[in-house]
Order: sequence, then C-alpha cells, then structure tokens
Amino acid sequence: MVTADQVKALVRSHADGDDGHFYSVAMQVAARAARGGQTKFAQELRELVDTAKASSARQPAKGIRPVPVVQPRGDLAGLLAVSYPDRRLSDLVVEDQVRAAIERVLTEQHQADRLREHGFEPLRSLLLVGPPGTGKTLSASVIAGELHLPLFVIRLEGVITKYMGETAAKLRLIFDAATETRGVYFFDEVDALAGDRANTNDVGEIRRVLNSFLQFLEQDESSSLMVAATNHPQLLDRAMFRRFGTVIEYPLPSPEIARGVIRNRLATMNTGGLSWKKLDEAAEGLSHAELTLACEQAAKEVILSKSASVTTTLLVEALQERRRATRG
Ligand SMILES: Nc1ncnc2c1ncn2[C@@H]1O[C@H](COP(=O)(O)OP(=O)(O)O)[C@@H](O)[C@H]1O
Ligand SMILES: [Mg+2]
Repeated sequence: MVTADQVKALVRSHADGDDGHFYSVAMQVAARAARGGQTKFAQELRELVDTAKASSARQPAKGIRPVPVVQPRGDLAGLLAVSYPDRRLSDLVVEDQVRAAIERVLTEQHQADRLREHGFEPLRSLLLVGPPGTGKTLSASVIAGELHLPLFVIRLEGVITKYMGETAAKLRLIFDAATETRGVYFFDEVDALAGDRANTNDVGEIRRVLNSFLQFLEQDESSSLMVAATNHPQLLDRAMFRRFGTVIEYPLPSPEIARGVIRNRLATMNTGGLSWKKLDEAAEGLSHAELTLACEQAAKEVILSKSASVTTTLLVEALQERRRATRG
C-alpha cells in the first residue's frame, strides 16, 4: 500500500521540481509494493521510473536556476553571501501564529502593487526571535524561496570592526546593495551589533553602531526585505524592536509541532508503527533542528540496515543521543 506520507512526499517533490527525490520516493513505493506481494504493480512502477529517468536525462534539466547574475563584488564580497533557496512554506513546521505572520509578509509582498496604489507599503522588515534551531534561518530561506528572490546573508563578523566609522561605512554598502538588488537581506545574530562581540569596551561606540544600523533600517526605501534574527533578545534594546515592521517569536516545539517535524522529516519512510506517546517524551525540550537531526540519523540507520521501518526504539535512542550531544 502507498502511504499517505509517500503521496505527500511525491507531490511536494514534484512541486519543488526535485526529480531525484520524486523518483526515489516512487522507487520506495515500488519496493513496498513488492514486499506486500504486489509484484506486478512494483515491476510496472520501476519500469515507469526507469523510462522517465532515461528520457529526462536526455532533456536539459528542469528547475536548474540560471547562473546568479548578482554576485557581490568588490568590498561587498566579504560582507554578503548570496544564494537562491528553493525552500517552501511547507518545509516549515511551526506554531500557527508563526506561520500566519510569515504568510502575512508573503501576501503583502505578493500584493505590494495593490497596497501601494492606496498609499500603503508592504511589510518588509522582520525581527525573528527565539532559541537556536527553531527555524529562523530556515524562515529567511522560505521567504526568499516563496518570493523567488535571492537571499543575501550578511556576514556580521565582516561588518563589525573596531572602528565605528568603518562599521557604519560597511553597513551603508549593504543598504545600498539592497536598493540596487531586490532580495531578502538576512542579518543573523544581529545582537552582535548591540555590542556583545563588537570588540570594544566603549559603550558609547556600541550604541553608535547599533544606532547607525537602526537609522539605515529606518531610512531604507528599497523594495528588499530586511530580516534580522537573534537568540539573545535580552541583548537588544527596545528601540531595536520598535524599528521592525514585525517581530516574530519562535518558541521551542510543542508536542504537536514536534510530531509534525518528525513526520515531515520521515515523510519518505514507513512510520506507521510509531508510538507517539513515547516519542513525545523523548522529544520534549529539543529544538526543531535537533529533532530533524535525530530523524535523519534514525532514517539512515534503517535504510542502511535494510530494515523495513523506523521503530520507536531507534528514534527514541536517536533523540536521547541528541539531547546528550547538546546538553553536554
Ligand atoms: N520550524 C522548523 N520546521 C522544520 N524544520 C526546522 C525548523 N526549525 C529548524 N528546522 C531544521 O533545522 C535546521 C536548522 O534550523 P535553523 O533555521 O538554522 O534554526 P535557527 O536559525 O533558528 O537557529 C533547518 O535547516 C531545518 O532542517
Ligand atoms: Mg540561524
């Protein structure tokens, strides 16, 4: 029998244009059918996949993105790294209010012209706050992916220097770039600007670095999106929060969300026999990223040992190992 998760994985990989993944799920469906005694169906499905693979190999690959035209050059090269993420909203397993906040940003961006006709600006500056591994960086990729925009990750360690004047000049370069090239500009660990690692003991200077960032943010009239993230909201001052169009809080996963993360990551595997009660316990307190890593470890063990399905025991062990790894 084809599982619901396999069908979803098929549709998702098709939507993402990920042929490799699509065929591999189809082959898993065939393998499962063969084990279940549906040998004819399995055989036909394998042949279909083989034929499809052979014909797509002859055609230029779909979904390959054009060579990026915007590669940061000169002074910018050390400050920005560009990528073209193909992450989708469906990759993100988050509480309803987080999803709603991101959907609102996407809708306003998609309908920006309509808003502007009436004299309104779409939301385009976001502060993402929450513990490590809860999906802040992934969200920046999802926003870029959904809007088909390049993602520019700002290397703050390249921006922050001992010299205030230099730091401000570098920030200016980045905001100029945002005016010139529309994209998602992602300032990760933006609390570094608030002085924690600003490498100076001069409190006045720290304030000036932060203020110049806030000023650039406020003056920015580009059509780019400015996304900042922090694990240390206590290091940011309230002024910082006020300057962003929206602040989104990323909590650690609830049991329900944790299940969703596990289901999502194991979508291509047989998970029918899992005991969710036991998993809830083992997953408690782990971040989305830690849950994902535990699933990956368990899945790989299953695949390489040629077992039929992911067992609760295996997954619980992987989750416990994650907990030990991160809690020391
Ligand atoms: N909310 C989430 N939903 C699904 N996967 C997630 C989520 N958060 C984290 N992950 C997984 O963990 C990885 C690292 O998460 P990341 O977005 O870098 O966390 P953060 O930036 O908050 O520290 C992601 O690439 C993804 O595989
Ligand atoms: Mg991150």
